[in-house]
Amino acid sequence: MKTSPKSSLTVLRTGREISVVVAGLADEITRSYAGKCPLVIGVLKGAFVFMADLVRHLNFPLEIDFIRLSSYGSGRESSGKVKVIQDIRASIKGRDVLVVEDIVDTGHSISFLMEYLQKKGPASLKLCCLMDKPLRRRVVVPIDYVGFTVPDKFLVGYGLDCAEEYRNLPDVCILGEDSQ
Ligand code: IMP
Ligand code: MG
Repeated sequence: MKTSPKSSLTVLRTGREISVVVAGLADEITRSYAGKCPLVIGVLKGAFVFMADLVRHLNFPLEIDFIRLSSYGSGRESSGKVKVIQDIRASIKGRDVLVVEDIVDTGHSISFLMEYLQKKGPASLKLCCLMDKPLRRRVVVPIDYVGFTVPDKFLVGYGLDCAEEYRNLPDVCILGEDSQ
């Protein structure tokens, strides 16, 4: 069911502001991966917009793959019980791997994923995350490349959803409390 027309959306970062951040991140990543051909893994579904924008700014040879983790479902809280529901196809043994994530909130999902991938024996494993919501962190997660820090609010747009709605918004918006 879709949220009611009363849902309030307040723009936190415009698509234009995000594109500047993404280009900056891409420059930093491009400097780190000179002479390498990493596998860039996007975390579905939330990271699909960020992944598409980021890789088009990465100026080195790369391959892409996607992984999907169990999600929030239709609510706003992560359970802490994470599992892989769609795995990568490529082998990552001995490869340089860069994980691309939309947002690190409690940290449960990404800490699970980084451990899961580390066990497969990559040559290197790094994390690039567009947004960091540190006030909600439950698990310590080292993030190699961060776009920007966000407040403890529920966000939608630029790939992020609430019950599958709003992923197509070009801006990152705060979803008002009156909407659920
Ligand atoms: P975690 O709490 O760090 O495990 O976050 C898990 C996933 O929930 C993230 O990768 C996002 O896809 C999603 N998520 C976290 N915070 C938000 C939010 O504010 N809005 C929409 N999705 C979110
Ligand atoms: Mg995500």
